[in-house]
Amino acid sequence: MDARDLGRSVKWVTSFRMVGAARVLRSVRSAWRNRRLDAAGLPRPGAERARVPGAAVEARPLPGGGVIRFARSSLLVRVAAGGAVFCGWDGAGPQPSYALAGAVPEVDDRVVLEPDTDGGWRVVSERLLVVVSRHGAVEVRTPGGVVLRRDQPPRWWEPVEVAAGEGGPRWMQRAEVPPDARHFGLGGRSAGPRLRDGVYRLWNTDPGGSFQPGDDPLYLTMPVQLVVADAGTHLVFHDNSFDGRVSLWEGEEGAGSGHDRPGRSEIRMEGGPLRYWVLVGTPARVLRNWAVLTGGAALPPAWALGHHHSRWGFGGAEEVRRVVAGYRERGLPLSAVHLDIDHYRGHRVFTVDREHFPDLPGLARELGESGVRLVSIVDPGIKAEPGLAVYDGGLAVDAFVRDPRGEPVRGEVWSGESVYPDFTDPLVREWWGGLYAERLAEGFSGFWHDMNEPVSFSAFGDQSLPRSARHVLEGRGGDHREAHNVYGLLMTRAAYEGLRVLRPAERPFLFSRSGWAGMQRYGGTWSGDVATGWPGLRASLALVLGLGLCGVPYSGPDIGGFTGSPSPELYLRWFQLGSFLPLFRTHSAISTGRREPWEFGPEVLEHAGTALRERQRLLPYWMTLAQLARRTGAPYVRPLWWRAPEDRALRDCEDAFLLGDSLLVAPVLEQGTDRRAVRLPRGCWYDTATGRLHEGPGQVLLDAPLSRIPVLARAGAVLPVAAPDGSVELEVWTPAPGRTGGGVLIGEDGVVTRFTSRRRDQTVRVEQEGAAEVAYPVRVRG
Ligand code: NOJ
Repeated sequence: MDARDLGRSVKWVTSFRMVGAARVLRSVRSAWRNRRLDAAGLPRPGAERARVPGAAVEARPLPGGGVIRFARSSLLVRVAAGGAVFCGWDGAGPQPSYALAGAVPEVDDRVVLEPDTDGGWRVVSERLLVVVSRHGAVEVRTPGGVVLRRDQPPRWWEPVEVAAGEGGPRWMQRAEVPPDARHFGLGGRSAGPRLRDGVYRLWNTDPGGSFQPGDDPLYLTMPVQLVVADAGTHLVFHDNSFDGRVSLWEGEEGAGSGHDRPGRSEIRMEGGPLRYWVLVGTPARVLRNWAVLTGGAALPPAWALGHHHSRWGFGGAEEVRRVVAGYRERGLPLSAVHLDIDHYRGHRVFTVDREHFPDLPGLARELGESGVRLVSIVDPGIKAEPGLAVYDGGLAVDAFVRDPRGEPVRGEVWSGESVYPDFTDPLVREWWGGLYAERLAEGFSGFWHDMNEPVSFSAFGDQSLPRSARHVLEGRGGDHREAHNVYGLLMTRAAYEGLRVLRPAERPFLFSRSGWAGMQRYGGTWSGDVATGWPGLRASLALVLGLGLCGVPYSGPDIGGFTGSPSPELYLRWFQLGSFLPLFRTHSAISTGRREPWEFGPEVLEHAGTALRERQRLLPYWMTLAQLARRTGAPYVRPLWWRAPEDRALRDCEDAFLLGDSLLVAPVLEQGTDRRAVRLPRGCWYDTATGRLHEGPGQVLLDAPLSRIPVLARAGAVLPVAAPDGSVELEVWTPAPGRTGGGVLIGEDGVVTRFTSRRRDQTVRVEQEGAAEVAYPVRVRG
C-alpha cells in the first residue's frame, strides 16, 4: 500500500457516516479481490527495451499528407479539410475512436508533402505547416512559420522477453510550446482553469468523500489540452483512453535577453496508440473544429436551463412536496427536483422504494402541473441478487463485465455486492438503453448518471474494477486498462440512444459524473462532490470553465457544496455564481444541512430570489447559448480571453468569465467582500446594476454587495430576455459613440434571428436581419 493508498483509506474510514461500517469492511474484501485478479490476469512487469523512431528513411505522399518511414517506426500525417492535423505513429490511424463523432473528416486534397532541408519532410497546407525532422520531431507552424508546438520524437518501452501484449507498449512524448503559452483543459480539474506546473493524471477517479481544489485526478479526465499563446491557440488531443499522466511546465521569457525558456509538457501513457490531433486558430475556431471532430453538444430541453433542486436524502414524497411548495409559496422559480439513490428500494438501480414513494408517476404528474420535472439518478452498478429483474435480465443477455476467468466481476457499491454492464458492447448498450422505459413510466423526465468512473468501493488500490477485467470494446476485445476512462462516456451514450428510441419526440436530458472526450454528444456533467468551503466555490468555476474548453459546455456545481453546512454568505455567493452557470443546481450529501434558499435567513432568501428571477429572465439568452454551443462548439461559459487571447493579463484571470458574447460575470469568491476588482477585455462594458460605462482593457473596482455579483454587458449587445409575461423582448445596451453592436436569438425551434444595434447621436436603432421591422419589443439600457 503506497502513501496515496493510505491517505485514501484514511479518508474512507473517516467517511463512515456516508458509507457505513459494514461497507468499509466489504470494501477491504473488494480491494483484495481486485489485487488477486490483477496479479493473475495482467502481464507481469519485466525487463523493457526503449525504442525511438530512428532516422527517416523515406516518405510516401497520401491525400492530405503522407507516411514517413523511420528506421524503427512510421508516422502518418494527415491534414483534414478544416485544418485539423492528425499524427499517428507506429501505424495508428484515426479509427477506431470513441471520441470521434463519426466519419473521419475529409482530407484536404491541396496539401503537399515535400522534402525539408535537413533530411526531414514538410506537409504544407493553406492554414498551417507541419515540419517533421529527420529523427521524428513534429512542429506545427503558422503559414508564416511561427512555431505553435514542437513534439519531440516519441519513446516507447517494450518488454524484452515477450510481445508487448494487449494495448501495446508504454510510451512517452515531450513537447515544447512558446514561452508565454498557458495550458487549459485536461477535463475537469479542480486546480484550473489555468493549469500550472504539475502532474495531471488521466484516470477517471472518485476521490471519495469530497474534493478540494488541487485534488487530482477527479471523475472526468480527458487528454485534451488547449494551449493559448501570442503566436496562436491550439488544441491537442491524444486519442488514447489508457491510464496516463500529463506533466506541465510553464515557460519564461528572458525579457529580450534571448534566454527564453519554452513551455514544456510531457505525456506518458501506459499503453494504447500514439496518435493525436492538433487544431489551430482562434479559440472560437479551435472549439468549432473540435465540435466538428467530436460532435455537437446535445441540446438540453428548455426546462433544464432553469433551476434544479436536489439532495441525497429527501426521504420520501412528502418531503419533495414540501420543498416544491416552499418554492411555489415564495414565488421562486423551480424547474426540476432530483431524486438520489434513497428513492430506490435498498439502493437498487431501476427500482422504487414504494414505502416512501408510493406513487411516483402521480407525484410526477402533480409536480408537472406547476412546471416542475423529476430527474432520476442512475448508477451503473447492479446488485448481484437473483430475482432482481435488472440483474436477471443482464445475465440473460451476458451484459456484465467479466474477469479473466470468465466470471462476472463483482464490486461494492451502495446496494452491496454488484456487477457492472459492459457499455463497450453495442448489444449491452442497447439493452441498457431500453431499461429507461421503467424510469419514464415512473414519471422521470431526465437522468443523472453517477458512480460511473466506474466506482467499486475499495479500501486500497483503485476504487474501480480490476484492470484485468475483460471488455468487448466493440468486438476488438481488451481489458479495463483501455475501457476504464470511456466507461462513463459509453453509459451515457447507451442512455442517450435508448431515450431517442423510447421518446423520439423529446430531447434527452442527461448529465454524467464521469465521461471522456466527445461526451457532449450525449449530455453534460456536474462538479461531483465538491467540498463545502470558499476554496470549493472557486473550484466550481474552474471545473465549468475547463470542461467548456474541452468541448463539454453544460455543467455546474453542487451549490452550497456537497458536504458540510455552508454559512449563509457562502451559500448565497455560490447561489449567485451558480445562477450564471449552465447547470444551476443545489445539491448536498445525506448527512448535511439544508440547501433550500429560505433556510439561510430572510436576507439570503431575498437575494437568492433575485438571482432566480434574473436566471428566469435570461432564459431566451440561455437557450440561444445552448443552440450556439451545439452549432459552433463555443461554450456558454467562456474565459475572459475568448475573444482576446493575445491579452496576457486575461489569460491569467481565473475569477470571472464571459457568458456568451454579451455578458461578463464576476462572482464573489472570497468571504466578507463587498467590492472586487474586475479585469475587462477590450471594449466598453456597462455595469448592469449601476449603468456605469467602463472601458477595457484594464481593471476596475466594482461594488459587490451581498445582494448581487457584478455583471457587465458589452456596449452594443442585443440580449434576448423574457418579458414579465414570458414573451421575448430585446435588451439593448447602448453602443459606444460611432460603434455598432448586435446579438442573436435562437429559439427552441432552431430559428436564428440576428440583430444589429447602431447609435446615431443620442438615439439607438435596432435592426432585424431580413426584416423591415424588429419583431420584438426593444428596451434600451445604458
Ligand atoms: C455521489 C454523487 O457524486 C453525489 O452527488 C450523490 O449524492 C451520491 N453519490 C449518492 O448517490
